[in-house]
Amino acid sequence: MEFNFQGKKALVTGGGSGLGRECALLFARSGADVLIADLRPERCEQVAEEVRALGVKAIAYPVDVTNYEQVSAMYQKIVSEWGTVDFVVNSAGVCLTEELTKQSLKDIDASIDVNVKGTLYSCREALAIMRSKKYGKIVNMSSIAAKACLGGFSVYSATKAAVLAATASLGREAALDNVNVNCILPGIIKTSMWEEILDQLAGSDQAKRDEVWAEWNKGTPNGKPQDPIDIANMVAFLCTEEARYITSQNIGVDGGYTF
Ligand SMILES: NC(=O)c1ccc[n+]([C@@H]2O[C@H](COP(=O)([O-])OP(=O)(O)OC[C@H]3O[C@@H](n4cnc5c(N)ncnc54)[C@H](O)[C@@H]3O)[C@@H](O)[C@H]2O)c1
Repeated sequence: MEFNFQGKKALVTGGGSGLGRECALLFARSGADVLIADLRPERCEQVAEEVRALGVKAIAYPVDVTNYEQVSAMYQKIVSEWGTVDFVVNSAGVCLTEELTKQSLKDIDASIDVNVKGTLYSCREALAIMRSKKYGKIVNMSSIAAKACLGGFSVYSATKAAVLAATASLGREAALDNVNVNCILPGIIKTSMWEEILDQLAGSDQAKRDEVWAEWNKGTPNGKPQDPIDIANMVAFLCTEEARYITSQNIGVDGGYTF
């Protein structure tokens, strides 16, 4: 799809990989400058290079979204460099699959910290700026796991349901200030997150990995493999003026997996 975001300023957490990277590149192709925020500095820098190669400005910003001071400093940076932030995509996330009794307390806390607190911290800072400017679009990454609550995903599902609920509430808080807050429920997309899930479920045996991957994909009603661009297109649409009346929503981009 083609979008015109000339002059817009976008910030993407988790922008160094997978869905966040694809959003950063689509914003850049559409003319927006992009701050790429990620825990992994080398990923930030690599995507920033890809963004610059598309003829717009990029800031590579290593950040741990679980650290409020770092998140706050990141928003100070984008405002001091570019004057504002128009679009925010909160894509930083982690997924551990394991029955609850086998998960360590450390892993449970880490998932909640990244997926829930990280998203809320980023939304808090973004909303303060956007509401004062009376303009902004926030898109959070929830997951089909928020609705399809399968065994082994209790913690992840809880975190993504929290993102969905927070999004609905924040959209209402900001509605009178011309700020839209929505979340997407992606389906099953082969990113580094899924490679890590396959590590957990199948180890390094490639045949077993292929088998587990095929098994998971059987659950997708339209039977087609999903690509990160499917998510980026919806994110970009939600940032257009045509989508001005869409807020507080959770939108499945999942081939019919959830409804
Ligand atoms: N890929 C899928 O199938 C899928 C499905 C549903 C939802 N999602 C959600 O989409 C989002 C993006 O997932 P993805 O598939 O692109 O995964 P990914 O692993 O490719 O990208 C996630 C990025 O988040 C970064 N990150 C992790 N912890 C961080 C932290 N504390 N601070 C800053 N950055 C951090 C990672 O370094 C990574 O680059 C996640 O929130 C995920 O839960 C993905």
